[in-house]
Amino acid sequence: MCGIVAYTGKRNAAPILIDGLRALEYRGYDSAGIFLSGNLEAKLPSKLVKAVGPVNNLASKITDAYSGTAGISHTRWATHGVPSKANAHPHSDESGKVWIVHNGIIENYKELKQALQTKGYKFASETDSEVVAHLIVDKLKRLKIEQAINQTLKELRGTYGLAIMYDKEPEKIFAARMGSPLVIGLGDGENFIASDPTPILRHTKNVIYMNDGEMAIITPDSHTIFNLDNVQVNREPDQIEWSVEEVQKGGYDHFMMKEMMEAPEVVKNTLRGRLLVEDGMAKLGGLESVKDRLRQIKRIIIVGCGTAYYSGLVGEYMLEEYAGIPVEVEVGSEFRYRKPVIDEGTAILAISQSGETADTLEAIREGKRKGALTIGIVNTVGSTIARDTDAGVYNHAGPEIGVASTKAFISQLTALALFTLYMGRQRQMSLVTGKKIAEELLDLPEKIKKILDSGNLANIKKIAEKYNKFEDFLYLGRKYNYAIAFEGALKLKEISYVHAEGCGAGEMKHGPIAMIDENFPTVAVALRDSVYEKMISNIQEIKARRGPVLAIGTEGDEELAKLADDVFYVPKTLEMLSPILSVIPLQFFAYYFAVLRGLNVDKPRNLAKSVTVE
Ligand code: G6P
Repeated sequence: MCGIVAYTGKRNAAPILIDGLRALEYRGYDSAGIFLSGNLEAKLPSKLVKAVGPVNNLASKITDAYSGTAGISHTRWATHGVPSKANAHPHSDESGKVWIVHNGIIENYKELKQALQTKGYKFASETDSEVVAHLIVDKLKRLKIEQAINQTLKELRGTYGLAIMYDKEPEKIFAARMGSPLVIGLGDGENFIASDPTPILRHTKNVIYMNDGEMAIITPDSHTIFNLDNVQVNREPDQIEWSVEEVQKGGYDHFMMKEMMEAPEVVKNTLRGRLLVEDGMAKLGGLESVKDRLRQIKRIIIVGCGTAYYSGLVGEYMLEEYAGIPVEVEVGSEFRYRKPVIDEGTAILAISQSGETADTLEAIREGKRKGALTIGIVNTVGSTIARDTDAGVYNHAGPEIGVASTKAFISQLTALALFTLYMGRQRQMSLVTGKKIAEELLDLPEKIKKILDSGNLANIKKIAEKYNKFEDFLYLGRKYNYAIAFEGALKLKEISYVHAEGCGAGEMKHGPIAMIDENFPTVAVALRDSVYEKMISNIQEIKARRGPVLAIGTEGDEELAKLADDVFYVPKTLEMLSPILSVIPLQFFAYYFAVLRGLNVDKPRNLAKSVTVE
């Protein structure tokens, strides 16, 4: 998730763009860049500046000499290629005729890049985005700029928000949207393009939201929107009423809420370009370099901390059931200090949102020293864990700002399912099973959307109100939802500061049941799966001790409603994928519970987003 700001008008563009990028930094912050077009009459040359790190690093490189009145700029959150000056946007071709900034992922960039390289185009970055500039330049040989862009867009697969400049028309900015948001800001003698209205708001409140499949051209005094068939689209501007902070949070009260609402997109982005449904396989480019070694491995040790550890527990069940590989899961802080038995047949899989968690990182380093193959499921491109592992799978979940991990967990489970498919199909998994998993994965975003329906959320909020008076909670789950009991309890305790403990439902009898009474509610994940009957027995045992029960059930399960005090239903999916759905109501329950207590859910006390010390 990157941020785009573009400006054309009469004012000095550089400070406007830099301010705009600062406002967008919440979208990503590993590098930034700006391109200002020249002005032939004023004998002003064009300028390009890029810097690694936060926008301030870029700002410190901009001097008064940068006085162009039109430009495009970008703050990057890497998806392809580490954060570096070369990979920072804007990108061009060698001629410098066309400059682009891009947000999104071009799925077919490898094919496009190869074809362009065959034609002699030289690439300067590892990004997927750079192909767009070369494609446009290539088409400029026979087409006008509008047509060259239009034809280029038709060749792209994936998602994009693009702002483009062309040296022959320095006051014009071209924009295109498919899957990555873009908005046009309409000022007086000046116009803007941006990823969201935050950078525009301080200049104008008049905006037009672009739709997928639309292209726009702005000059200081005009704006035109077309669809991909070149038919002009007329749309009245919207008036923005939100504050800057509200816009950054997508209109939600907290980043945590915004990130939970992103879940359908997050699953799509993690899956994007990686499923070969007909072959029942997953294509994981990041594992290509260790493909042969992965075929040989006899055992996987998954390491992670906090939420990432719990996703690993689900991964263990997936990999053992479907790929037939023995898996152990361990928290990084334990793994690094004991004497684990590791050999060349062992792969260590690190799961980390930030890619910087010290204990996970040290576990990887220890494994490497002992000869293990190391791989990562990491959200932050170019992070230390991503760099220190031999190979890996990026989540593409976008930056997660709320301290309590929500969308990253959903993405980690999705990536683990892809990894299971990848490993399983090399081993014992049949085509039919592979296809079934792939199809079910593709259906997940729609199923998540159903859970996120406003009526459902209102229902979870009501349940959270009802349970808000309690100070202790037991969370129960079994098999695939064993880890969800722990993750659900973690969500509640970290943002509400109430006592919540996760427990494998079968273990309840060995101690935790002693705590149960009418003041000690249980949250039970009781889906219609292979352990349903067992979960029902456990719920009955709780009810027999007057414990209130909030259950997460499968749509249509009327029986459960007769037993539990409250039920929240999720759609049916494959058992191995069910945690991706069942965790969602638990995340929302924790969120509403904490908000009702007036707590700052985005920054819970005593916690840090990234724990880079022991
Ligand atoms: C911290 C965060 C958790 C996160 C854990 C691991 O404790 O508060 O939300 O799950 O670190 O972080 P990682 O970035 O490695 O996934």
